[in-house]
Amino acid sequence: LKRTPLIAGNWKMNLDHLQAVATVQKLHWTLKDAGHEGDSVEVAVFPPFTDIRSVQTLIDADKIPFALGAQDLSAHDSGAYTGEVSGAFLSKLNVGYVIIGHSERREYHAETDELVGAKVKAALKHGLVPVICVGETAEDLERFGASAVPAGQLETALAGVPASADIVVAYEPVWAIGSGQAATPAQAQEVCAALRGVIAKTLDEDAAARTRVLYGGSVKSGNIASFLREPDIDGALVGGASLVVDEFAAIVRFEK
Ligand code: G3H
Repeated sequence: LKRTPLIAGNWKMNLDHLQAVATVQKLHWTLKDAGHEGDSVEVAVFPPFTDIRSVQTLIDADKIPFALGAQDLSAHDSGAYTGEVSGAFLSKLNVGYVIIGHSERREYHAETDELVGAKVKAALKHGLVPVICVGETAEDLERFGASAVPAGQLETALAGVPASADIVVAYEPVWAIGSGQAATPAQAQEVCAALRGVIAKTLDEDAAARTRVLYGGSVKSGNIASFLREPDIDGALVGGASLVVDEFAAIVRFEK
């Protein structure tokens, strides 16, 4: 079974809506000028909430072949939850993906594995593909090895999710995020294979075979090809390098 690689740019809290429109336009033209064919790799951008409407309008008007994602969503549909954003609102803006359980949400907003699981269900309910982030800290790595913590996080996040669900999993070792110190392809492959095993166990074998498992953490144009050569790594969740158009375009064009 062939899984189309997904290169996802998580902008985090960077780029206002005007910068977002300029960035997406520039990325589109950079890839076009390089002769990039859109069907071999799927490209997705994850701007801040305030940018999504503007980016969606641009993508629609210029038929830009990028998927649009959000960086978080509420576990609730609507109601008295000040500051939160519902999956229902996101799907009305043609948002296709939503990052859930990023380590920055877990650390700075105390998101638990249980809340991550509730958000995964909210995303699926509103037709959004959750990009479920898991990963161990440096301390976890020392105490438990690389796979145990992310595998446990994923198992809780997938509890009660139907086997037919369309999901993406992102393995992001916390110590590799924004540090310039990426995992080695072999380390990342080992954990991504273990995560695929968790999908097989909690959903089923078919789900494990079709679900894309991404690596994230200091991905750049110089290391992307080495990750994508691994059999269980189907793309990347890119932070810092997604803000630099030429660098992100080079990551998207990893085979060239
Ligand atoms: O979501 C993206 C990750 O946190 C990776 O960030 O590429 O800046 O290390 P980074």
